[in-house]
Amino acid sequence: MKILVTGGLGFIGSHTVVELQNEGFDVIIIDDLSNSSIDVLDGITAITGVKPHFEKLDLKERSKVEGFFATHNDIAGVIHFAASKAVGESVQKPLMYYENNINTLVYVLKEIEKLEHQNFIFSSSCTVYGQADKLPITENAPVKPAESPYGNTKQIGEEIIKETCKVNASLKSIALRYFNPIGAHPSTQIGELPKGVPQNLVPFITQTAIGLRQQLSVFGDDYPTEDGTCIRDYIHVVDLAKAHVVALQRLLNDKNESNFEVFNLGTGKGSSVLEAIKSFEKVSGQQLNYKIAGRREGDVIAAYADTNKANNVLGWKTELTLDDAMASAWKWEQKIRNK
Ligand code: WQD
Repeated sequence: MKILVTGGLGFIGSHTVVELQNEGFDVIIIDDLSNSSIDVLDGITAITGVKPHFEKLDLKERSKVEGFFATHNDIAGVIHFAASKAVGESVQKPLMYYENNINTLVYVLKEIEKLEHQNFIFSSSCTVYGQADKLPITENAPVKPAESPYGNTKQIGEEIIKETCKVNASLKSIALRYFNPIGAHPSTQIGELPKGVPQNLVPFITQTAIGLRQQLSVFGDDYPTEDGTCIRDYIHVVDLAKAHVVALQRLLNDKNESNFEVFNLGTGKGSSVLEAIKSFEKVSGQQLNYKIAGRREGDVIAAYADTNKANNVLGWKTELTLDDAMASAWKWEQKIRNK
């Protein structure tokens, strides 16, 4: 069965392509290489032994999207990762984010509506909840006003899909709200490749440990949490990738209860920044050079998933721990720096 993965050379996309191929799916990747490298294709092939079909294509070019789907009208499902995802950058470049994250979604959905099989998995984010009033966070938690254009594009994206599904019963869709994806494939063939100075915690930790960065700044230790630092739900990217295959199979096998469903994807366990650092130090045997700095604008105090719906309805749960994820992130960092 032919599955299209947009953004399939990105961090979560590439790990999902591996898991799709492991399940025997025939994968086509579209990526514009704006935030990924063509070398990732070799990494995927090295793991699975099967080179996915790849097309470099900018989904903002509507005629190119139409042309692609006209050629590949036998696609059984689409997993849509392609989007810009840096919260801070989105504040500086809102129009770039709305064009790249919203226009492309509309163009892809318009083409899917012409297909015989209309199965669509959308890459969403726990960012839609903002600072949730209740923890752990369930899928029924209210969507709060977005704190960044990036988060707004995820909220708008879900609304676009939901409203389209309402008038098109043939379109079946699942939005997956990720908590904090971290780690790398155990083979060290693929992993996170942040551009420039990493915004996210774990790549900054590994780049500090390998000597690329001078010191990690912990953004605030005066939050109302046990150790004063923010709490997040760090989920291993391989567990996250497997959830996409389970969600796709749910649609392919018509197991969905409605034609627009939402699932939180997390471990259900919250870890503070200092706990994440301790986990890294334990698995790497390295003392991390960090200091306590001021709070970062826009950070929520705590966010971790209620996993009941994903576990009991979707039928998926995480198997890997924070230590597993940190160990894989460190192995990957050493591999790409040839250390
Ligand atoms: C985690 C914690 C920081 C860097 C964002 C997006 C989310 C998703 C994942 C795309 C926070 C602290 C971080 C550093 C630090 N992205 N931190 N020093 O902000 O929870 O989520 O990335 O989908 O949508 O919002 O992840 O890794 O940036 O931060 O102390 O150098 O680590 O304050 O508490 P975040 P993060």
